[in-house]
Amino acid sequence: MIYLDNAATSWPKPPEVLRAMTNVLERAGGNPGRSGHQLSIEAARIMYQVREDIAEFFHAGDPLRVVFTSNATHAINLVLRGLLKPGDRVVTSSIEHNAVMRPLRSLEKQGVNLHVIPCASDGSLDVKQVAKALSFGARLVVINHASNVVGTILPVAEIAPIAHQAGALLLVDAAQTAGIMSVDIQAMGIDLLVFTGHKALLGPPGIGGLVISHSVDVSQIEPLISGGTGSQSELEEQPDFLPDKFESGTPNIVGIACLHAGIHWLIGRGIQAIWAHEKELAYALIDGLSAIPNVEIHGTCNPDRSVAIVSFTVAGRHVSEIGLRLDEEHGVLTRVGLHCAPAAHKTIGSFPEGTIRLAPGVFTTRDDIHTAIRAIEKVVRS
Ligand code: ALA
Repeated sequence: MIYLDNAATSWPKPPEVLRAMTNVLERAGGNPGRSGHQLSIEAARIMYQVREDIAEFFHAGDPLRVVFTSNATHAINLVLRGLLKPGDRVVTSSIEHNAVMRPLRSLEKQGVNLHVIPCASDGSLDVKQVAKALSFGARLVVINHASNVVGTILPVAEIAPIAHQAGALLLVDAAQTAGIMSVDIQAMGIDLLVFTGHKALLGPPGIGGLVISHSVDVSQIEPLISGGTGSQSELEEQPDFLPDKFESGTPNIVGIACLHAGIHWLIGRGIQAIWAHEKELAYALIDGLSAIPNVEIHGTCNPDRSVAIVSFTVAGRHVSEIGLRLDEEHGVLTRVGLHCAPAAHKTIGSFPEGTIRLAPGVFTTRDDIHTAIRAIEKVVRS
């Protein structure tokens, strides 16, 4: 089997991640921050240690400004629904995932003023267009760091000062970059960073988070949910301090411990080396696909400007037929269709059919890519 669906979720996970799952349940199976016994204290200690490591990984400064969520969608909703009020202006790009577009469209119905900046057909975003959109001011700019459909990297560090000058906070969805590219929220000027654990950070599904820079006044963000936090239990009101304000209910300590193991594995391997490896695979994919008749590759076709996500279509053929045959006849696993990002497909010109998306990962080899290309050629030619 050749797994080329790492943009949906990474697979396989390092053995250390699998071991962390049983280890945490055996050694630290209590409820963190709730009970006072040793299993609970150990769980809380692990949770704080992971918070510290994530703060360091994204250069957040303060571990208490790392909020655990169940996924990136949850973290994005937390900010959008907690911060934006009727009459606020929010600016986004035309290449966002539905994790951003669906809450924004719903908030638009409640009176939030939404402005969508058009991206080019390769997914790139012109900073001049951002400056133009922000000349009217805004409460928030929300963009992805790299597209989940074509991998195109957006110029986050260039957008940050423009957003700040316009009085807006910058929310960045790093679901496709965290674990592949270095993300330094201070150097890049990111106010609110969303990550997911189960993609390039190599953790399990069900864990993600929000990193909140010191630039953000958290009293401006209402919690998405409220409830038990293990703190201020004498009060029926939600605590107003971080991270408890945004972390109600028993946390996913298993996901948190596994995410920790994933991040440590990545640091050991070296983020730069991983990105270099994935770039090489993306170049090989683009080279191989370019030689197959009737294949159109979408996006920049330049792995120096994208993460390793290659989307293509075949003239006159349905993407679902190609994806199914790659899976059933050749064991090549891809994701076809709209990738939960209709706006992105409208931008690149592949709506409503979508594309066949190839997303190699850290465990993909050059041989895997050559075998996948031969399989694609066979399917396309027959
Ligand atoms: N957002 C994920 C993807 O792009 C699930 O496939």
